[in-house]
Amino acid sequence: MMLQFEVNKPGCIRCGECVFDCPARIIGVGSDGYPAIPPEKEGNCIRCEHCLAVCPPGVISILGYKAADSLPVEGKLPEPAAMETLIKGRRSVRRYREENIDPELIQHLLEVAWHAPTGVNARQVRFTVIDDREKLVQFRDQMMEGLVQQLKENKIPKSRSYFALFVKVWERQKADLIFRNAPHLLIATAPKNVATPKEDCLIAMSYFELLAQTNGVGTVWNGIVKWAIDEMLPELKETLGIPEDHQFGYAMTFGVPAVKYARTVQHTPATIHRPM
Ligand SMILES: Cc1cc2nc3c(=O)[nH]c(=O)nc-3n(C[C@H](O)[C@H](O)[C@H](O)COP(=O)(O)O)c2cc1C
Repeated sequence: MMLQFEVNKPGCIRCGECVFDCPARIIGVGSDGYPAIPPEKEGNCIRCEHCLAVCPPGVISILGYKAADSLPVEGKLPEPAAMETLIKGRRSVRRYREENIDPELIQHLLEVAWHAPTGVNARQVRFTVIDDREKLVQFRDQMMEGLVQQLKENKIPKSRSYFALFVKVWERQKADLIFRNAPHLLIATAPKNVATPKEDCLIAMSYFELLAQTNGVGTVWNGIVKWAIDEMLPELKETLGIPEDHQFGYAMTFGVPAVKYARTVQHTPATIHRPM
């Protein structure tokens, strides 16, 4: 696809910011003195849109996107103290209300999280989401049945005995210590052949988590669900329609919290190593 790199020349102040900021260094100055991308260099564009983002007067459009349709950044970023409270005050939520989150909110959270950075700007993360409580219960029951079977056949590795305990509790008491009645499930996967599939997934999910928690949505990184789908019961990938050529990033359960945390927690000082 052509890049559609366009400069609205009357507004261009010829500051050169787009030229200097282009990571692929493909923007040059045309014979008329305005920025331009030579056709033979278009293939090197990584589609990061830094040219559109950096342009002070907002006269560059690329890939069909116009600067005017972007969000202004100046004066709009959260205060550092707010970000600090978010990072320290985000909690793993394990108690949920028995209700669905508005699908439009879920869609919005995912659309925003999809702006997370990806290696070489691959932008291939795929979100698999169960946004309906009843469907999640169906999926959970299928997963738990599979795990109970694995337990019966002694297939749960010793190294996962902690997980086996949760399966036993389900079998004996039907107590769900894995999903903990979360109404929704998010899984991020990415094609194995992109530069950094796992990293891309984890970063996107981290962004999702932070934005979710500022929107009153509780989340928990769910290692047991990840292990069950990715390692123990591969048939679940089929159930979820996860492509075979995708790397499994992680699983996160989420929903409206039935708990409110009044304060942040406190941790030991960070482990920081300065070799020089
Ligand atoms: C990669 C990862 C996997 C996790 N898996 C689970 C899990 O399977 N079940 C669970 O209840 N919590 C899980 N957690 C949440 C951690 O237990 C939690 O982050 C930790 O107890 C600290 O609590 P906080 O997140 O509220 O600060 C996981 C967290 C991470 C980062």
